[in-house]
Amino acid sequence: MDTMTSFSYLVSAVCFIMALKGLSSPESARHGVLYGMFGMALAIVTTLMTDTVDSIGLPLLGIALGGGVGATIAKKIDMRDLPQLMAGFHSLVGLAAVFVALAAFFNPSAYGIGEVGAIAVNSLIEMALGAAIGAITFTGSIIAFGKLQGFITGKPLTFIGQHKLNAGLGILMFLLIFAFCGTQSTFMLMVLVAVALALGVLLIMPIGGADMPVIVSMLNSYSGWAAAGIGFTLENTLLIITGALVGASGAILSYIMCKGMNRSFLNVILGGFGGDEDAANSPTAAAGDRPVKLGSADDAGFIMKNASSVVIVPGYGMAVAQAQHALREMADVLKAEGINVRYAIHPVAGRMPGHMNVLLAEANVPYDDVLELEDINRDFAQTDVAFVIGANDITNPAAKTDPQSPIYGMPILDVEKAKTVLFIKRSLGTGYAGVDNPLFFNENTMMLLGDAKTMAENIIKAME
Ligand code: TAP
Repeated sequence: MDTMTSFSYLVSAVCFIMALKGLSSPESARHGVLYGMFGMALAIVTTLMTDTVDSIGLPLLGIALGGGVGATIAKKIDMRDLPQLMAGFHSLVGLAAVFVALAAFFNPSAYGIGEVGAIAVNSLIEMALGAAIGAITFTGSIIAFGKLQGFITGKPLTFIGQHKLNAGLGILMFLLIFAFCGTQSTFMLMVLVAVALALGVLLIMPIGGADMPVIVSMLNSYSGWAAAGIGFTLENTLLIITGALVGASGAILSYIMCKGMNRSFLNVILGGFGGDEDAANSPTAAAGDRPVKLGSADDAGFIMKNASSVVIVPGYGMAVAQAQHALREMADVLKAEGINVRYAIHPVAGRMPGHMNVLLAEANVPYDDVLELEDINRDFAQTDVAFVIGANDITNPAAKTDPQSPIYGMPILDVEKAKTVLFIKRSLGTGYAGVDNPLFFNENTMMLLGDAKTMAENIIKAME
């Protein structure tokens, strides 16, 4: 690699690191994306100019086709569909890793790694690992896409002996890698790819649809490591660095999500968490004999207009109802009355990292009004109204008090400490974790049963 190419790759790698840093906050996210775009453009131009590329016609055609499809999808995609879009794109990265490994195996001299039947052992290991991880990523991401899009049931699909079968296939995969490196046999490579494709399906099938964000992030990490493995085969330092960045950031994100839910990664992988949140609960089914204070938009408007501080707690239901614009309007009306309005964001509110931040930013909520759990939790005790909209698990005190609860240990927003808690949701049913929320029956809680967007709009009308 000549000095100019090395330098360009170094600049690209720095841009990718800046992109990741930028994406860590909504305020710098746009700059982060620009850094990423510049770094990728520089990387592509540099690679096309290296002497390993014979003709640039075919790569340019591929970039035009892929870029065109990508840009069209990105323009059309609904914010709520981002997790499945990511899953779909990761499947392509996995497939690309398999194809590059096969290309290197069938035409090793083009990659400078030896001749057919006499490929260097380190290259064989790299291509076998790249092909295996890529194949798992490919089918695993397709199943994740299907579950998130609703093509495949979101319920965990399990059968007896599943974990043993998966462990057996994992061991078989490693044996096949050894056998392939020893024999350089095409048959071994094909069996390896086939086993990895099957393992991708079997690993993701038992995982519930709602756990998919963690899985998508894990598959993102796999696709990064597969790309890094292929980077070694191609002797392309930038691909190694980029693959490692994607691999490490995906792994860190999965870890952060698991930590936010207080669950081990193994617990997510083994599946079977929580209940079926869509199982139609009648509006008051969970109440039994317990009294519930029900209220209307007029009640909520009156209570909030007489408050001096309101903390809004958005959750998954706000995203489903797309209530963020109505919510911001409601906050504007309250602010105009001189009321201190802030938003409290739980690290795993919604179904993907930063879910609430993205939606609130879309509705132009000022960044300064949006506070993370550790910055706002102490303030609930001095707050007049906690306005919980479409959130459930992230407020459930059972996480602190009930060691038997599946969410025990998860940090929660202490909304119950506010003078009044207003809860907007459609029923007394459970959320993602499938556990009842005792807050609905508290003395200081008022339930506002209904769709989040409609309720927020009605509260605005009531206040006006
Ligand atoms: P949930 O606990 O899932 O509660 C959301 C509530 O929204 C539901 O109980 C539902 O009650 C209500 N809802 C649904 N549609 C609504 C609508 N149109 N209008 C009004 N309400 C509606 O959500 P949360 O409190 O945001 O907690 C997030 C959960 O997801 C946590 O358990 C977390 O561990 C998990 N999780 C998060 C992530 C990330 S990274 N964010 C990843 C994986 C899992 P009704 O049916 O009664 O309306």
